[in-house]
Amino acid sequence: MGAEKLLAGQVLAFPTETVYGLGALLSAPVAIKEIYLLKKRPADNPLIVHIASPAQLDDLLTVKPSALERALMQAFWPGALTLILAGANEIAQRASASLPKLAVRMPAHKIARELLEAVGQPIAAPSANLSGRPSATSAEHVLQDFPVGLGAILTGSSGDFGLESTVIECSAENTIRILRPGSIVASDLAVFGPIEEIWLSGGSTSRPLSPGTKYKHYAPRGRVILFLDFAEFKAASRGDRECKSALLHHSSFPEPERSWSLQKKVSSSAEYAKELYGFLRSCDDLGVELIFCEKPQGDELGFAILERLSKAARLGD
Ligand code: TXA
Ligand code: MG
Repeated sequence: MGAEKLLAGQVLAFPTETVYGLGALLSAPVAIKEIYLLKKRPADNPLIVHIASPAQLDDLLTVKPSALERALMQAFWPGALTLILAGANEIAQRASASLPKLAVRMPAHKIARELLEAVGQPIAAPSANLSGRPSATSAEHVLQDFPVGLGAILTGSSGDFGLESTVIECSAENTIRILRPGSIVASDLAVFGPIEEIWLSGGSTSRPLSPGTKYKHYAPRGRVILFLDFAEFKAASRGDRECKSALLHHSSFPEPERSWSLQKKVSSSAEYAKELYGFLRSCDDLGVELIFCEKPQGDELGFAILERLSKAARLGD
C-alpha cells in the first residue's frame, strides 16, 4: 500500500524512525515540485533522498563514496544518519536543489523500508510538515499540515527518536562534519574520525553548508521560552500570568501557582526528543501563547534537542 500512489506520480507521507517524511519518487520531477509547493519550502533547500540499499547509490552519484563514507554506512544504515555525498548526477540534482552534493539516508522503519522495496527506486522526502513548523511524529500531525494534496498518509508507530536524522558530511581530510545533530551523536561517530560540529557555528555563516539551517524551523504559533532552572523560569514567567501557558520540563521543581493549559514532565533526553514536536503541536491546538521549555539535560542528545528548541524560540525571522 502506498507504492502504487508513488508510482502514479503522487506525493505521500510515510513514517520513519525519526519523523514522518513527505515522499515522491526521484524519477517523478512533477511530484518533487509538488513537495516544494505543498510544504511552501524555499526552492534552494534540498531534499534527502531515501534508499533501500547502498547499491542504489550507483544510480545517483558519479563518484564512489570514500572508504570513510562506506564505513559509516555500514555502521549506521539502516538508521537515522544522513550522509551528504559528492557527485550528484543529473537525476539526483532534482532533489539536491541543483547542488553537486546529495543528502542520502537508508531508513530503518519497517513501513519506510517496505515502501522503498516495493517501488524499487529512491524516494526524495523532506520532513512532512509545512516549512517552518514542528516536524510531524504522527499521521494526525501530517494531516493537520496537509489536509489536502497527499495521495496517502501511511500510518505506523511514530518514530523511535522523534528528532530528524543526524546530517553529516565527510571532508577531503576525513573529518566528519556534523551539519545537523540528531540521535546518532558525536561520540558514536568519533570512532570513525575527527569530528567538527559545524551546526554550532552554521547559523552565522553567510553560505551555510546545509541550506536548511538558515530558515526558521520547528516553530509553533505560541512563543517558546527556554529556561535553565527554576530561578530562570521564575524570572522569565514573571508578568505573563494572564497568558495561556504550557510547560515542558524534566526536573522536579516547586510547582508555581499557575494553571497550565498543558504540562508534561519527561524523564530523559530520549523521552524529551520523542515528545517535543507533539507537545509543541498540542500547544497550538490549545491556543497556548507562552510555551516554557526547560533546557534538556547536558547529554549529547540533549544538545540536539536544544538545537531544535533554540530555533523554535528564535524570534523575528
Ligand atoms: O530524519 C530525517 O532526516 C527526515 C526523515 C523524513 O528522513 N527528513 C528530514 O528532511 O528531516 P528535511 O528536509 O526536513 O531536512 C533535511 C536537511 C535540511 O536542513 C537540508 O537543508 C539538508 O538536510 N540537506 C539536504 N540536502 C542537502 C545537501 N545536498 N547539502 C547540504 N544539506 C542538505
Ligand atoms: Mg524539516
